[in-house]
Parts: sequence; structure tokens; C-alpha cells
Amino acid sequence: MIRDDAIRRRPITFATITMAAAAIFAIGLATSRSVAAGPDAALSPPATAYLPSISDLMIATIQPRHERLWRAEQDGNWDFAAYELGNLKGAFSRLGHAHPTEHDISFPEMIGSVTEQPFNELNSAIRSKDDTAFAKAYADLTDACNSCHQALNHGVVEIRVPSRKAASDLN
Ligand code: HEC
Repeated sequence: MIRDDAIRRRPITFATITMAAAAIFAIGLATSRSVAAGPDAALSPPATAYLPSISDLMIATIQPRHERLWRAEQDGNWDFAAYELGNLKGAFSRLGHAHPTEHDISFPEMIGSVTEQPFNELNSAIRSKDDTAFAKAYADLTDACNSCHQALNHGVVEIRVPSRKAASDLN
């Protein structure tokens, strides 16, 4: 009998919580409406979405993967190198979607023109676990970073191949 009661009580408790939550939500809604109730309240546009700048995305999505790719190869971790190469390609592709033009030039085309060849070279170096080929392809990729920075008047951002002493790729 006691067990039966316990089972029957559970849905009631749940319903009570749901009702309380709905009430709190309604109060919140009413409060926010009354605060925003100016003449244009009904017309106010939704908050503008935040678009990270090229520079934001370079620091957040490109630079760390460029470094990790190098570290993976240094550690002989070819699986991780392949994974980071894929992520770096994806990050460049999303960057191009987010910023279709830069200085009136198609940004995705510019990315493709400088990165395609080193990406292909890196891909085959990783597949064949070839350190020498990797070193050359990685240097080519790093040159690609710098060639775009120079072309777009950001030559001050000088990227380098990291080293064991200074794992950062920023010169
Ligand atoms: C197709 C062009 C292009 C390529 C390729 C490119 N970058 Fe950039 N990068 C830019 C531009 C443009 C800026 C400057 C953005 C700004 O300041 O508005 C920049 C800025 C940066 C910055 C400085 C961000 C800051 O705010 O300090 C870093 C770091 C960077 N890039 C890393 C890299 C690395 C690493 C690579 C190669 C793996 C790379 N970039 C490849 C266009 C490119």
C-alpha cells in the first residue's frame, strides 16, 4: 500500500513543478514586455548576430591548428596530424563562408589558391608517414599563410614553422 502511494504521488509532484516553472516563465515574460513597452516595442529587431572578424577566426581557429599539426608530426602521431589537417581545412572553409570578400577579392578563392597545393602535399606526406615530405609541405603551408598576409597588407603578421624551443608559430 505504501509503495502504491509513492508511485501515485510522483506524477502530482512532477505536475506541480511544471506548473511552477510555467508560472515563473510567465512572470518573466510579462516583466520583459513591460520593460520594453515603448512605442516601437513591437517593431524592435532581434539582436544582431555576432560575426567574428577574420582576425578573430585566425587566432581562434586557424593558428592553433597550424601549431597542432606540427606538434602531431613531431610526436610521430600521424593519426592526429591527419585529424588536425582535416580540421584546418574545415576552418579555412568556414572562414571563407563567413567572410566572402576581403578588399573586394573573393576570400574563399584566395584561400584556395594559396592553400590547395600545400594541403595536398601534407595529405600525401601524412598518408605515407614521410617526415621529410611533411617538413617541406608544412613550410609551404607556412609560406601560404605569409603570402596572403603580405598580399592583404597584413605582412606584420609573420607566421613561422614552430620549433621545440618555441612552439608558437608567431614570429
Ligand atoms: C587567404 C588569406 C589568408 C591566409 C591563407 C591566412 N591568413 Fe591569417 N590573416 C589574414 C588576414 C586578412 C588577417 C588580418 C585580419 C585583420 O586584422 O583584419 C590575418 C591575420 C592573422 C593573424 C593575426 C590575428 C591577430 O589579430 O593578431 C594570425 C595569427 C594569422 N592570420 C594566422 C594565420 C596562419 C597560421 C595561417 C596559415 C595556416 C594564415 N593566417 C593564413 C588572411 C589570411
